Amino acid sequence: MQQRLNFNFPCPIRFGAGVIDELADHLLAQGLKHPLIVTDPVIADLDFFKDIVESLKNKNLAVDVYSEMHKNPVKSDVLKGGDFYHNSVCDCIVGIGGGVALDVARAIVLRINHHRDLFDYDDLIGGDKYVTEDVPYFVTVPTTSGTGSEVGRSAIISEDESKKKRILFAPKLMARQVFADPELTMGLPSHVTAATGMDALTHNMEAYLAKNYHPMCDGIALEGMALIAKSIEKATHHPDIQSRSDMLLGSMMGAIAFQKGLGVVHSLAHPMSSLLDTHHGLANAVNLPYGMAFNYNGFEARFDKMAEFLGVIDGDGEHVVDYLFELNQRLELPTQLRDVGVKEEHLEPLAQLAIQDFAHPNNPKPVSLDDFRSLYQKAY
Ligand SMILES: [Fe+2]
Repeated sequence: MQQRLNFNFPCPIRFGAGVIDELADHLLAQGLKHPLIVTDPVIADLDFFKDIVESLKNKNLAVDVYSEMHKNPVKSDVLKGGDFYHNSVCDCIVGIGGGVALDVARAIVLRINHHRDLFDYDDLIGGDKYVTEDVPYFVTVPTTSGTGSEVGRSAIISEDESKKKRILFAPKLMARQVFADPELTMGLPSHVTAATGMDALTHNMEAYLAKNYHPMCDGIALEGMALIAKSIEKATHHPDIQSRSDMLLGSMMGAIAFQKGLGVVHSLAHPMSSLLDTHHGLANAVNLPYGMAFNYNGFEARFDKMAEFLGVIDGDGEHVVDYLFELNQRLELPTQLRDVGVKEEHLEPLAQLAIQDFAHPNNPKPVSLDDFRSLYQKAY
């Protein structure tokens, strides 16, 4: 071992049914009095969300709620949220929701004391070097089990006009505390549970296969796969608190593991969201078996290990791809691109976008433009 490496693990996570009850006392213990809660407009209307706001007010916290954001959030959503924080004289930020709400919350955290143009902080142009100022105390509360954004340190925000996705990234943007309460995910509809759960499974599988050296992430990814494989069907069709707990843990483990990198499946999925507005989890679910079939040769031992943790028959890696096709069917998810609105004329533009994506350079084997063409063709 001649390499010198950095291993980073995330923030404190308070986990378990009912832990959301501890949020008010946690903020008060930090000397905080006026949280800005950032959530999406759908969640802002739900009863459990109103209960959270009420519980904070009952402890004499002043609470403001910001929920103006697009489905694919844009820069102006973040700027308005930053102005709202300053005008309301808030002293901390609590993000409650799925990936979108938590990304917007995290971008507002950055915005508060950083006044350059928001996209000067874009990680892909080295913008993290400007993230030098203090940021407000930041708490995340996930309400889905998919992206694992609650334990992340980046936010994907699009340009208002072009819709081009930009990545804001800095270790300072990590939550100071996560409250992961599986009860908040109990009401998720079955199709959302299935699609977001397959996103989380994809994170664990792609992270495990990613070519960077990171045995700690490998261990987390394998156990994350096991939790999801055990509970995704139950959580989708007959949810109980145990299956919801497994899914929430499995999704956080996927997000912790993918600091190691992702791979070809995410590069197949990302263009479908930007070009056709396909749900990210759904796009991963459909592409996962095809991407894994592409990766199998040369990585048989890794597939055997995944088969063991996924509970695949005989623990034989050769059966992982069939297992994934069958899992999609059992979850009532589509198994072909044509079933999610992709048309034949989309395949070439999708391939042209996929080759530019940031995820596949970490795939265990190189992926060429022709590989993307052939993968989309097969999945179509
Ligand atoms: Fe993902």
